[in-house]
Amino acid sequence: MILFELLCAIVILKQHIEAVSSGNPIVNTKLGIMRGKAATDGDYNMFLGIPYAKVNKTYPFGPALPYPRFESTFDAYDDSAICPQTEEFNHTIVGTLDCLHINIYVPDSASAQNPLPVFVWIYGGSFRIGFAGRFLYGPSFLVRHDVIVVTFNYRVGPYGFMCLDIPEVPGNEGLKDQILALRWIKENIGAFGGDAAKVTISGNSGGGMSADFHLHYGKEDLFKRIILQSGVIAAITVGDGDPTAPLRIADQLNYTTNDVKDALSYLSTVNPHDVIAAAEEAGVTFSPCIEKEFTNANNYVTVHPLNLDVPRVKDIDVLIGFNNDEMSAVYSSMPDAVFAASDFVLSSINGIFDFGDNEERLTQMREIVTHFYFGDEDITAELRQQVTDMGSDFGVNHGTLRTVKKYLDNEVENMYLYVLSYSGERNFVKHRLNLTGGGAAHADEIGYLFDISYMEKPLTPDDQLIVDIMTYLWANLAKYGNPTPAVSELVPIEWPRVTKEKWHYIDINTELEVSTRPFHDRMAFLDLFFKKNEQFQRGYEPEQEPSSAQNFTDLD
Ligand SMILES: *[C@@H]1O[C@H](CO)[C@@H](O)[C@H](O)[C@H]1NC(C)=O
Ligand SMILES: *[C@@H]1O[C@H](CO)[C@@H](O)[C@H](O)[C@H]1NC(C)=O
Ligand SMILES: *[C@@H]1O[C@H](CO)[C@@H](O)[C@H](O)[C@H]1NC(C)=O
Ligand SMILES: *[C@@H]1O[C@H](CO)[C@@H](O)[C@H](O)[C@H]1NC(C)=O
Repeated sequence: MILFELLCAIVILKQHIEAVSSGNPIVNTKLGIMRGKAATDGDYNMFLGIPYAKVNKTYPFGPALPYPRFESTFDAYDDSAICPQTEEFNHTIVGTLDCLHINIYVPDSASAQNPLPVFVWIYGGSFRIGFAGRFLYGPSFLVRHDVIVVTFNYRVGPYGFMCLDIPEVPGNEGLKDQILALRWIKENIGAFGGDAAKVTISGNSGGGMSADFHLHYGKEDLFKRIILQSGVIAAITVGDGDPTAPLRIADQLNYTTNDVKDALSYLSTVNPHDVIAAAEEAGVTFSPCIEKEFTNANNYVTVHPLNLDVPRVKDIDVLIGFNNDEMSAVYSSMPDAVFAASDFVLSSINGIFDFGDNEERLTQMREIVTHFYFGDEDITAELRQQVTDMGSDFGVNHGTLRTVKKYLDNEVENMYLYVLSYSGERNFVKHRLNLTGGGAAHADEIGYLFDISYMEKPLTPDDQLIVDIMTYLWANLAKYGNPTPAVSELVPIEWPRVTKEKWHYIDINTELEVSTRPFHDRMAFLDLFFKKNEQFQRGYEPEQEPSSAQNFTDLD
């Protein structure tokens, strides 16, 4: 038996080598034979657009099914699939439901004898947009460090996050697509020379939130390490979904009904581009939700994350952080008139807290936040940076640090915290919006981890330095569970882990700097603010008797 397996391994290995030398790599997986192609921008092979799951055509808003075995060789050449959405670059409605594809980038050093760690990237995009192909996520910077890079599509918008009170569409199908992809990776990555025991899941914004969902809710052993970039569950409002969504979209398309299943049957027959357009026109939005529990449904998220411990984090290596000017892209280009007409304090508070009909408390809290960030100044366009700081703190920064705290409370042993402050030519969002000045905005780091197809080459020396530093640290986390296993010329510091006593972090810039507690003054204010208002956080359920809530009412 063992001899037989050994012989098979040798045959497969031989195939691998022969195939590589002839230019078209072939991999024999449990699901069939895949033929990829050699990359032209590095020493690696690409297997593009392998379908890992199939959307149920008669019920595209519900669960997808694992993709069946391939009978003949699959030519894995095409990474252009996109799930239905209005993509963010040309603002056109694109995509098809045949989109649940995976892309695998394999350094030439990978083999059965030398299986490489696996770096899985989950795209962000507010669960509304995003796609995995090399248009944005070119892998050449990362594969240099001997990690296999994997990207995949998952459903977004109405097809990924319709959340209803019927068992056929309980919600969060986009997250469940991701689980199918992670299972596929666990089962099949070995055939590509990957180490299924060393999988890191990573992502920015909605991608990081997705990874955090899998850490909170996942029951299977699908990953060992996690990288959360400006995206944690604590930074989104996880609501109860909108059971009227199908009715409103159908109505927008002039199909009027009060029966949700009728509307769904109708929408299943409509071109997905029209569904996307109608949902936008009707103002229906979609995001992760608390699912209603059903006996036969494929439930995943049924408890609010605020009330959930994360015991698994004890055994997971964590890299987590954010950028130093997260919301600058939102506020720096906002027209003065819009700026003056907005109530930023209220929307910051309302994103996280619900004071119900306690108007007095809301008024007090608004005053406290206003005084802290703005003194007694009128909030005009003059105060853009202060508004940016408040928006960043409420939207990303403090949520990330609450997550750090939660992981520490759950006995995480190996966690590394960063803040990116570098601003160069490749800051993804600033580049796209043509912004200059300020620090690193939300999602800016993508340009230093990935070779974005439309960005200019060659890189400036400073940009190249940040690319080298970030991909080295990120790949080390995937390889060793430690971003700085040794001091090197490139990174001449040791990145200390976060402990309960010291919240170390590194500031990523052309000079790397170790410090503790990013934005400690603003964060200390918010620590107190959250403690004072804990019971009013959306989703909060008291652990003990309700009377313990009295501790928090002394401010009134
Ligand atoms: C597709 O979804 C419908 C409705 O939930 C279900 O009846 C059907 O069995 C599904 N198809 C497959 C192949 O699972
Ligand atoms: C946007 O349009 C440009 C120019 O036509 C094209 O090259 C690019 O692929 C498009 N991007 C997307 C994401 O559709
Ligand atoms: C729905 O009906 C209105 C009014 O007749 C019409 O203007 C609109 O184009 C129709 N929409 C669709 C999607 O057919
Ligand atoms: C970006 O800014 C530069 C310099 O200010 C300007 O020349 C260019 O037209 C701008 N591009 C876009 C797309 O706005």
